[in-house]
Amino acid sequence: MGKQFYVSPSVLVVLLLATVVPSCSSSSNSRRFHFDVQWKNISRLCSRKAILTVNGEFPGPTIAVNEGENVEIKVTNGVSLNTTIHWHGIKQLRSGWADGPAYVTQCPIKPGQSYTYKFTVIGQRGTLWWHAHIAWQRATIYGAIIIYPRMPYPFSTPIAEEIPIIFGEWWNLPVEGIETEMNKYGNGPNSSDAYTINGLPGLLYPCAYKDTFIQTVERGKTYMLRIINAALNDELFFSIANHTLTVVEIDASYTKPFDTEAIMITPGQTSTVLFTANQHTHDSTGLFIMAARPYLTTVFPFDNSTTIGFLKYKGTMADNMALPKPSKLRLPHHLPRMEDHAFATKFTNQLRSLDTTMYPCNVPKKIDKRIVITISLNLQDCPANQTCKGYNGKRFAASMNNQSFVRPSTSILEWQYKKYSSTKYSYDFPQKPPHVFDYTGVDPMTQNINPDFGTKLFAVEYGTKLEIVLQDTSFLNLENHPIHIHGHNFFIVGRGFGNYDVEKDSADYNLVDPPERNTVGVPMGGWAAIRINADNPGVWFMHCHLEEHTSWGLAAGFIVKNGAKSFQKLLPPPDDLPAC
Ligand code: C2O
Repeated sequence: MGKQFYVSPSVLVVLLLATVVPSCSSSSNSRRFHFDVQWKNISRLCSRKAILTVNGEFPGPTIAVNEGENVEIKVTNGVSLNTTIHWHGIKQLRSGWADGPAYVTQCPIKPGQSYTYKFTVIGQRGTLWWHAHIAWQRATIYGAIIIYPRMPYPFSTPIAEEIPIIFGEWWNLPVEGIETEMNKYGNGPNSSDAYTINGLPGLLYPCAYKDTFIQTVERGKTYMLRIINAALNDELFFSIANHTLTVVEIDASYTKPFDTEAIMITPGQTSTVLFTANQHTHDSTGLFIMAARPYLTTVFPFDNSTTIGFLKYKGTMADNMALPKPSKLRLPHHLPRMEDHAFATKFTNQLRSLDTTMYPCNVPKKIDKRIVITISLNLQDCPANQTCKGYNGKRFAASMNNQSFVRPSTSILEWQYKKYSSTKYSYDFPQKPPHVFDYTGVDPMTQNINPDFGTKLFAVEYGTKLEIVLQDTSFLNLENHPIHIHGHNFFIVGRGFGNYDVEKDSADYNLVDPPERNTVGVPMGGWAAIRINADNPGVWFMHCHLEEHTSWGLAAGFIVKNGAKSFQKLLPPPDDLPAC
């Protein structure tokens, strides 16, 4: 057997990411990073294109910090488009100016300009991630955030290596203009051409032999995978052939560990899992396939392909072997089918907060306020003299409580903090559905309603114990929506199918050890109830983490007012805050 086995430079870069903290310097307890946003030509799927990157890396550099540290990331915009970066899941206590969503907490960083994001990482530990938060730039501008805990991990197994696994979505054509096009014509985007693991699509796609993720492991050792779903529009299933995964943490909060053959992860979510390389390899090649494919809950066109990578056991035939031909490959036996709603539900229902003395689950047991929000896709009548490219010559839109969010052209946080007057914003976001109907039972096509458009917000007092019930609707189609809230974690106290019924459903809440997250998958044709301790003053974006839906307006913003004490107030804006 010849030496045909070959690890491409891109694979090596990814492998190194697990251990290297790039362009970082640290003083006592603060860490500094430099992010240069720049174009980089790369080849994938038999063609070459320029993509937006940070420091020319794809995926971008890992931000590895210790719990409690101050972090400063100087972002310099070296391209001719506006940009911003969001630190997804970082709570940003009193530092909302560093959160990153364009026109929500800041004006974009203009070409040639810089902005230093400064925040402290408090009360969270595990895997998070960062991504661009303007238009569709996050398609290629993303990377891992790792927060090392102050205390040892709450699981005793020694970990041989920690490996980021970042799922992404790849388009052969440029993605930068997709949102503008959608806003103009109300159309849907093209589906992606591939899914990727750490930027690599894997063998099942054309020209991907060298662009296949391979992780070397040693038999008998236990590894940690820090899994991030950075895909734009698709929930994913993931599994590794013959290996059981143990879920130990989600969205940087520990869970009661449980074993599973596969996971379901929505865009925006992270899952940290352990596995032991415990397979006998004398009768096998020593190569084990890992794969991710979409969890399908939409009637819209979508990418139904599969990304794969491999575990390669050290000291086996795999050391000197070429990768198998795609026709010889068998996907992991336990990888759920694309329509496996039962697996998605069962998996999600197993997630629980760790809830120990060291890591108590601080779910609010009583609430001050309950808000009910419907989540809808809409078909909007085509305005006169416009070209509409959605279904039936109409426009697609999406809304919360029938309000389709319009991204303003100035920063909402500045408006709120500096008390500018503006007629563009208002505080009257509806706190319950404006129309009561059979939310999950209406005819998807004929009973659709036109949403209202605007930038409406709702405000709560500092310290409010807030419950938000997120209700899916059947307009256009029932779908799983990953709703992400900035600035806070929340507790998922209940999930169910059909229409939420306050009497019946609130009696079944888990108020003991519900999972704590920053992104909740609202089940297809169902609802999720989340509780938030609103103790972080600022303006916080709340949106569907399917980029397609955010572009159509499936978003809202909420304001947590300053508290009375000085440590309960938003800090003043930094001097280098970009202007619009
Ligand atoms: Cu991960 Cu508002 O985003």
